[in-house]
Amino acid sequence: MDLYEYQAKELFAAHGVPVLPGKTVETPEEAAAAAAEIGTAVVVKAQVKTGGRGKAGGVKLANDPDEAKEKAQAILGLDIKGHTVHRVLVTEASDIAEEYYFSFLLDRSNRTFLAMASAEGGMEIEQLAVERPEALAKVPVDAIAGVDRAKADEIVAQAKIPAAVADEAAEVIVKLWETFVSEDATLVEVNPLVRDPQDKIIALDGKVTLDENADFRHPGHADLVDQRTEDPLEAKAKAKNLNYVKLDGEVGIIGNGAGLVMSTLDVVAYAGEKHGGVKPANFLDIGGGASAEVMAAGLDVILGDPAVKSVFVNVFGGITACDAVANGIVEALKILGDGATKPLVVRLDGNNVEEGRRILNDANHPLVTQVDTMDNAADKAAELAAAGA
Ligand SMILES: Nc1ncnc2c1ncn2[C@@H]1O[C@H](COP(=O)(O)OP(=O)(O)OP(=O)(O)O)[C@@H](O)[C@H]1O
Ligand SMILES: [Mg+2]
Repeated sequence: MDLYEYQAKELFAAHGVPVLPGKTVETPEEAAAAAAEIGTAVVVKAQVKTGGRGKAGGVKLANDPDEAKEKAQAILGLDIKGHTVHRVLVTEASDIAEEYYFSFLLDRSNRTFLAMASAEGGMEIEQLAVERPEALAKVPVDAIAGVDRAKADEIVAQAKIPAAVADEAAEVIVKLWETFVSEDATLVEVNPLVRDPQDKIIALDGKVTLDENADFRHPGHADLVDQRTEDPLEAKAKAKNLNYVKLDGEVGIIGNGAGLVMSTLDVVAYAGEKHGGVKPANFLDIGGGASAEVMAAGLDVILGDPAVKSVFVNVFGGITACDAVANGIVEALKILGDGATKPLVVRLDGNNVEEGRRILNDANHPLVTQVDTMDNAADKAAELAAAGA
């Protein structure tokens, strides 16, 4: 789960990382009040989960409450890369002597953690990595050893952060590592990490991604979920414990096993090219069980997506045999009753496939078409989606 800047900075503050006081508000009037409360010049910042807010006009300086109101007015409602701004952070404006870049992240390809740091912040980091790779220090961090003061000193030295603030920067880096570990984050990024004219180091921006697999040990993290922008279908799927990701196509997909579902997305996208460019509408892995309840819950979520015109159920029977899955589909359609409205293409293969196909044939449900191979089934599902679109 990605956090908003204001949420990231709340976590930073809880772990002793220096941030500036601020308040998150939803109206220009509240922005003026927040600026009055802070009592200095402020910066009004769009809270959206995407980068490049500054360039998009989402970060503006305001010298007094009236100006804060004006700037908030301009930023609220703005569309930044497809994200509508519903909230702004009103935060103390800092004098900036220098801007640095800092991040901890999971380095999957090297199976380790990585610190990235540069004394040349401000610029977009992707651009820095391409244009001046020597200016971006990349320091592997051992998961067990972690980041103590000595390690932080090493990172600071490699990033060429000036000696005058090296100690303070190293202290902040140790605290950022504490944030990273104790919150179970997969990314903690501060861009810019600034040096102010008094040589204080402050996190002016914050980007944090939390590992949802660790949610069970962070009851507080549930409060960080933004109900407003969470996709309603994804929320419904999550409530039913389904492994569902909404995509923007027309063919609903249900499969068992993440690998099979991934390849199903590929064959449907490929088949869709022949049928007006229809695409998969979602990822949904119902896992090993495939009981009637799980199948019904999955179908219910997918049929609730108005973009879906057909559904492709692709199951390879393993431990859960095809007859159990077929019964699951038949029962699910009974549970859904009139709620099931779109054509279903079912491809069964694997353990006890003959019995599974017989069950579906006997049930003879008007919405269900059986196709024996994955490619042909994908083609049929795409054709039906194109016809229904
Ligand atoms: N509190 C502040 N005081 C003074 N200047 C600020 C403050 N916050 C941000 N800025 C300035 O605005 C720039 C952009 O801010 P910030 O990094 O938060 O947004 P962004 O980089 O545009 O967004 P993103 O990091 O999402 O791409 C900073 O590099 C900094 O120069
Ligand atoms: Mg930034």
